[in-house]
Amino acid sequence: MGLNVEGIRKDFPILQRKLAGKPVVYFDNACQSLRPVQVIEKINEYYKDFPACGERSMHKLGKKVDEGVDKARKSLQAFFNAKRTEEIIFTKNATEAINIVAHALDLSKGDVVLTTDKEHNSNLIPWQLLKEKGVKHEVVEFNNLDALNDKLTKNVKIVSMVHTSNMDGTSIDAKEMIKAVHDNGSLFMLDACQSAPHKTVDVRKLDVDFMACSGHKMLGPSGIGLLYGKQDALSKLKPFVVGGSTVSESTYSSCDLEKPPHLFEAGLQNYAGIMGFGAAADYLKKTGLDNVSAHELRLNRKITDAVGDSVELLGPKNPELRGSIFSFNVPGLETHNVAVMLDEAANVMVRSGAHCCHSWFNAHKMLGSVRASLYLYNTEEECDVFIKELQKIVKLLS
Ligand SMILES: Cc1ncc(COP(=O)(O)O)c(C=O)c1O
Repeated sequence: MGLNVEGIRKDFPILQRKLAGKPVVYFDNACQSLRPVQVIEKINEYYKDFPACGERSMHKLGKKVDEGVDKARKSLQAFFNAKRTEEIIFTKNATEAINIVAHALDLSKGDVVLTTDKEHNSNLIPWQLLKEKGVKHEVVEFNNLDALNDKLTKNVKIVSMVHTSNMDGTSIDAKEMIKAVHDNGSLFMLDACQSAPHKTVDVRKLDVDFMACSGHKMLGPSGIGLLYGKQDALSKLKPFVVGGSTVSESTYSSCDLEKPPHLFEAGLQNYAGIMGFGAAADYLKKTGLDNVSAHELRLNRKITDAVGDSVELLGPKNPELRGSIFSFNVPGLETHNVAVMLDEAANVMVRSGAHCCHSWFNAHKMLGSVRASLYLYNTEEECDVFIKELQKIVKLLS
């Protein structure tokens, strides 16, 4: 069954509005998705109906907060097929989730960490800066199993890889990478920021040890993300952001640490964000991720067929290998100029620049790209607008 895109669009208030007299063509979904009323109402519900704190208050409002947080944790447990709710840790974003693992794993001098050559800064810098502790960070080619196997030595403690690149939409064969890493006795962390909004990420089937993703890329609120940790893997972490909520008891000289997830959720939480994230996961689950990805592919194929040869495409020509992303350069034009021209002409909103993947662009002696990224509410008509405006820009230079 396909998507009822017209029905879905009615759920997104911003899509009912016009800017400068024209509808919004939102193709910046890899940065942040739009939010449906179901998520917005869930956020408002917290602030209107029970704006209290969780975990510590015995009163009725506090209990409602606890119920809401538990429900959201269960929704996300189901969404990722985690074995236990305790394996779902709410963070402020994916960057924080990756930093928790990078710092709490207690890596030391001589240990090695591997990432790919297509990482977002959020899955590069936390590992790179561990050099201050004598930890070595090395880079392997994206989705190259042989290159990975060549680097897998006994000193490799963890391999952290992006599942789907935010730069060009290509994906790794996560299952075979994870198997190789586990055969070496190392841990595996998956950056699922760009895969979780579009396809099933089953943490048990993949057998990841850790996984990070952002709420705001999958219909959820800003300022909320998630760290999944397999129970075993979480027990290897030494918490480093501690305080309220992370202990059950304390004296002036000692404390009893809580267990996960609370051990890694220090201080008062973003309750509205957590509940909104749960509602977003429920919305996506109900819509069906297979329907979402099939729809995006249809749109990406339409764009690629129409303008794929008129621009310098990043990544493979085949849209099946790029999912929801069409990333490109117009030779002779700066990426930001292309983005501004598209926005000014027809409210076509894309991202331009290095997409926080400066390392890859620097290695390839490029400044960046223009990235159109699609999602479930985008339409063929919106693609037509994008194609028409891009063709006009390309023509200007010919
Ligand atoms: C692949 C990838 N990893 C990590 C991040 C960082 O996510 P967050 O903003 O939730 O920290 C992003 C955000 O664009 C991303 O695309």
